[in-house]
Amino acid sequence: MAKPVIWVTRTLSNATLERAARDYEVIWDAADAPGSAEDIIAMSAKVDGIIPCHSEHFTADVVAQLDPRLQIVANHSVGVDHCDLPALKSKGITVTNTPGVLSDATAELAMMLMLGAARHAVTGDRIVRSGEWDSWSPAFLVGKQVTGARLGIIGMGGVGRALARKARGFDMEIHYHNRHQLPPEDEAGAVYHESLDDLLAISDFLSLHCPATPETIGLMNNDRLARLPKGCVIVNTARGNLIDETALLAAIETAHVGAAGLDCFATEPGGNPAFATHENIVMMPHVGSATLKTRDAMGFKALDNLDAFFRGDEPPDRL
Ligand code: DGY
Repeated sequence: MAKPVIWVTRTLSNATLERAARDYEVIWDAADAPGSAEDIIAMSAKVDGIIPCHSEHFTADVVAQLDPRLQIVANHSVGVDHCDLPALKSKGITVTNTPGVLSDATAELAMMLMLGAARHAVTGDRIVRSGEWDSWSPAFLVGKQVTGARLGIIGMGGVGRALARKARGFDMEIHYHNRHQLPPEDEAGAVYHESLDDLLAISDFLSLHCPATPETIGLMNNDRLARLPKGCVIVNTARGNLIDETALLAAIETAHVGAAGLDCFATEPGGNPAFATHENIVMMPHVGSATLKTRDAMGFKALDNLDAFFRGDEPPDRL
């Protein structure tokens, strides 16, 4: 029987590309450019499945123009805000994602950003690297200690819980807000706040781990930032549009927010140039899940979903 044809839109890990080539007829371009709307529409007539990343946007307009040949979009991401799910569903296209496997890598990056933001990592690195380090004082680069501090986590899914586990190792007190309170074994002593405002009011550190949905876009706006204790450190490894960047900038400028660690931005790629002059904002270019181990696991999960689908079984991560 002929192998199904799939389009792998970006450069996935070598192990993923090798396994894909073994089991499918693969269209993949080593140029590694994001697929445009036109690419997606044209490719849908040539392939049975696509493994896209969050860089390919399946908007309602794109989905309306997809060829009926395309049967499955097996995302290489846990976030699916780049996909209009109702539009894909109404077209009969199966959509899957890769939950779970990137929680640890993303939580590690959140920890790095939190520590880096709390301890002036950008300034410290700059002055040593540039040769400007010519004196020392006990008043020099005094930061904020995480030990014993309260960490507020918004969204206690896989990544939020992985961050809680890591932060417990730093003796942080874990608090969270979630749509539902977790069972005690998943809470592991974390304090649930049914009200987001209550969580914000006690968060010495705040980390965002909820998906970007119509309800959460712009979640951290002027009002909510104002509820944080003065000097709070904010971390975002989820999606850029959860934070109103103008409001965050204003809060950084007044020092109401003490520092921020951001892996996600409203505009990607590119980020927000207005953040660049603030060395108390540590920034990374959306690489939360970028470890080899996790890239392999994400790629294999996407392929597991495709394999199940083309075998006629239920894909484990169907949305
Ligand atoms: C995800 O999986 O959602 C990450 O942000 C990478 O796309």
